[in-house]
Amino acid sequence: MKDILQELETRRDAARLGGGQNRIDAQHGRGKLTARERVELLLDEGSFEEYDMFVTHRCTDFGMENNRPAGDGVVTGWGTINGRMVYVFSQDFTVLGGSVSATHAMKICKIMDMAMQNGAPVIGINDSGGARIQEGVDSLAGYGEVFQRNIMASGVVPQISVIMGPCAGGAVYSPAMTDFIFMVKDSSYMFVTGPDVVKTVTNEQVTAEELGGASTHTRKSSVADGAFENDVEALAEVRRLVDYLPLNNRQAAPTRPFFDDVDRVESSLDTLVPENPNTPYDMKELILKIADEADFYEIQEDFAKNIITGFIRLEGQTVGVVANQPMVLAGVLDIDSARKAARFVRFCDCFGIPILTLVDVPGFLPGTSQEYNGVIKHGAKLLFAYGEATVPKVTVITRKSYGGAYVVMASKHLRADVNYAWPTSEIAVMGAKGATEIIHRADLGDADKIAAHTAEYEDRFANPFVAAERGFIDEVIQPRSTRKRVARAFAALRSKQQEMPWKKHDNIPL
Ligand code: HXC
Repeated sequence: MKDILQELETRRDAARLGGGQNRIDAQHGRGKLTARERVELLLDEGSFEEYDMFVTHRCTDFGMENNRPAGDGVVTGWGTINGRMVYVFSQDFTVLGGSVSATHAMKICKIMDMAMQNGAPVIGINDSGGARIQEGVDSLAGYGEVFQRNIMASGVVPQISVIMGPCAGGAVYSPAMTDFIFMVKDSSYMFVTGPDVVKTVTNEQVTAEELGGASTHTRKSSVADGAFENDVEALAEVRRLVDYLPLNNRQAAPTRPFFDDVDRVESSLDTLVPENPNTPYDMKELILKIADEADFYEIQEDFAKNIITGFIRLEGQTVGVVANQPMVLAGVLDIDSARKAARFVRFCDCFGIPILTLVDVPGFLPGTSQEYNGVIKHGAKLLFAYGEATVPKVTVITRKSYGGAYVVMASKHLRADVNYAWPTSEIAVMGAKGATEIIHRADLGDADKIAAHTAEYEDRFANPFVAAERGFIDEVIQPRSTRKRVARAFAALRSKQQEMPWKKHDNIPL
């Protein structure tokens, strides 16, 4: 009996060693943790339940029958993050470069199926040379099975991808279909075709880092939602994110104990908006002053900085925030900011997370570059996302809210529930100067008349009261009381029920 027990431990020890000590040392030498070390850091101590530790591949080509490492290059199972269940897979680069065989994919599919059935998020740690070349189409079929499960799970359980090594070829499409992608600076990359193929086909010379490193994907392509200095920081931040999210689309996000006064008055907000309407101010200051304990988890911090997206808590409950940022491009809406915010709004709506929208927007960015690249369709994404969202929606206009952007940014007309405005708000078709130059074109040569017309327009429209008279704004509020007003609004909306008409699915402008 003792021998049998001992054999189990021996087999386990061998499996835990993955591709062997030399390869583990090489992995560490690159500043990377091993697949198992990553799982240990991600999950609560001692909570990991591993499955399929002894699974091996079935390939008999290219001498593979003589190389059948236990686990087949991926560690799978479930554990907890601050006591809440998550399923995890972590590719082991020390075993055949973490490459994906049919059985490797089958292990991933197994935990994805369990996650769907049991209603828990899936976190995938990617560190792989892609399709296992020796297996040919069997490997591609395995990827296909994973892709299909990504699609089925979308909007049912949160899916988070952490890229901690290579992720190339069609392999990038599984992370692409998950809700969030995080990368590690200087040790991870994602691309559809690598630098060598790029050189052959397009004659461009580019490094892997330039083509698909963390900086590229968080600043240029927006494929990734965040980049971190090293594996440890990335995993700690994923833990922090999971705390904001519900386990599935049938459960509410967790309520955390909070130590902040919900009625907290912030007098400094009364002077946040500068006297000069063209002077910027930092919208993040408002977000931090509304949030419980000034805690804000920003998503896509380095991309389209003219709009801010992320999570806060109010009275311990998760709220998604979308806010124009006057510090960058005056907070204008453009292709990138509309896409960024639309995806965030849709994530919140999928998972029942209420949305707070903070508005200071001069309109959509004009120009050929925007038009040629389809700002009409991309801008419509945000409009569509807000209009279809049935979660509680509270909006605060702090200053400008002009034109189409007024309607898009969670206006009353898109079924926002509570719309507040600060006294400094200007809700109009456009700014006073532009408006005057159009409706009083005949007086353009007369500076005095134009100044008088501009002042008249400002008097009439550069305030929140015209909109408030029509009920498009529910209340004009004191900036200092914003936290309290917003928190009370969301509290009143906790039992909100809103249905969409029956449809198979909508046809959002993609
Ligand atoms: C089998 C692989 C492998 C793969 C790496 N290895 N990738 N084995 N299939 N795809 C093995 C290597 O042979 C090596 O084994 C070990 O993993 C470590 O690889 P190295 O090359 O020594 O490591 P490194 O120098 O760090 O380079 C990592 C790498 C490189 C950049 C990922 O290995 C590489 O280019 N691999 C091939 C990538 C690729 O073309 N994959 C297919 C993409 S197409 P030994 O025993 O020698 O140590 C694809 C399609 C998916 O994935 C489609 C989905 C629909």
